[in-house]
Amino acid sequence: MKFSTKAIHIGQIQDYSTGAIIPPIYMTSTYAQEAPNEHKGYDYTRAGNPNFTNLEQTLAALEEGKYATVFSSGLGATTGLISNLQKGDMVIVGNDLYGGTLRLFNQVFHNFGVSLLSVNSSNKLEVENLLKKQPKMIFLESPTNPLLKITDLAVIAKLAKKYKVLFVVDNTFATPYFQNPLNLGADLVLHSTTKYIGGHSDIVGGAVITNNKNLKEKIDFARKAIGLNPSPFDAWLISRGIKTLSIRMDKHAQNALSVAKFLEAHHKVKKVYYPGLPSHPQYKLAKKQMRGFGGIVSAEFNLDLKQTKKLISSFQIFSLAESLGGVESLVDHPASMTHASMSKQERERNGLSDGLVRFSVGIEDKDDLINDLKVQLSLR
Ligand SMILES: Cc1ncc(COP(=O)(O)O)c(C=O)c1O
Repeated sequence: MKFSTKAIHIGQIQDYSTGAIIPPIYMTSTYAQEAPNEHKGYDYTRAGNPNFTNLEQTLAALEEGKYATVFSSGLGATTGLISNLQKGDMVIVGNDLYGGTLRLFNQVFHNFGVSLLSVNSSNKLEVENLLKKQPKMIFLESPTNPLLKITDLAVIAKLAKKYKVLFVVDNTFATPYFQNPLNLGADLVLHSTTKYIGGHSDIVGGAVITNNKNLKEKIDFARKAIGLNPSPFDAWLISRGIKTLSIRMDKHAQNALSVAKFLEAHHKVKKVYYPGLPSHPQYKLAKKQMRGFGGIVSAEFNLDLKQTKKLISSFQIFSLAESLGGVESLVDHPASMTHASMSKQERERNGLSDGLVRFSVGIEDKDDLINDLKVQLSLR
């Protein structure tokens, strides 16, 4: 079965008791048992719910993995993973991760004795030197948020196997439509389903996908033991959103390329970051590893910080807001919004300037999006 057929049919079994094409929402916290511990596979919604199972089957199929576990948020999914580590364990993290993920590591798990080794994951030698320190896990994004850096996932997967270290890829930006890290050798794929997978900016959710049964059991245990489950309604909404993932992603990517090309040619733009532009330093790698380049474009302008903030507050179609991946276009100022939890020094060390702007390019008409940018740029 091909991607868009799987997105619509896997995990979406009709309700045979009524013939309803769409599975119902199981808004229940508990389940009747025939005798103590004799039940139909569900005993309490923190541990499992039919809407979770439906979505997990879809996500596993789309990521070409065997198992998935859904969570209350992307950071909930990361918490579920990291909670399996122990005091003294080290994790290698990419130096350009979403700021909230770094905050979770630095300000929460650090207190439980889990330490971080930050790496430029494009540098194979640097990665291998850190792997020699015997960390338990390597955790990367590709493309990264917000600088859209690409890592050669197959190369890192080979190294991680050599040193017997778990390799986790946050695939939120690419989505399974454009990239399947498990097929490139990753052990675990993580998603903030809040973003493209849900696709409509109306839920917060997360998921982890793997081929390893032992890992799946540990992750399920973490969800149940910590209480990281989503609501059945949110899981149902994500299942609803995922059906249009392929057509949304095609349109996001077409619009993002048009926006990136427009910005690159504009005299008030200093630099554009988009892996689908031949000027992107890892364009060839992105082309090899991904089937499309996604909907996020970042840019720096030939404007001072005050003018930049004014610009991004003035758009008529791009709403100034946190998050990304919904059908509507958003604009974000990472230094004061999504990545404000990182220190200025940390941001500067990783190339994230105060003037950087991130666009989540939606699926509106591209002419309207470009016109919005053109008009507001002409006023600065
Ligand atoms: C790449 C990436 N991973 C993880 C997260 C965290 O996900 P959530 O906000 O659903 O907890 C985000 C949120 O912006 C993100 O951009």
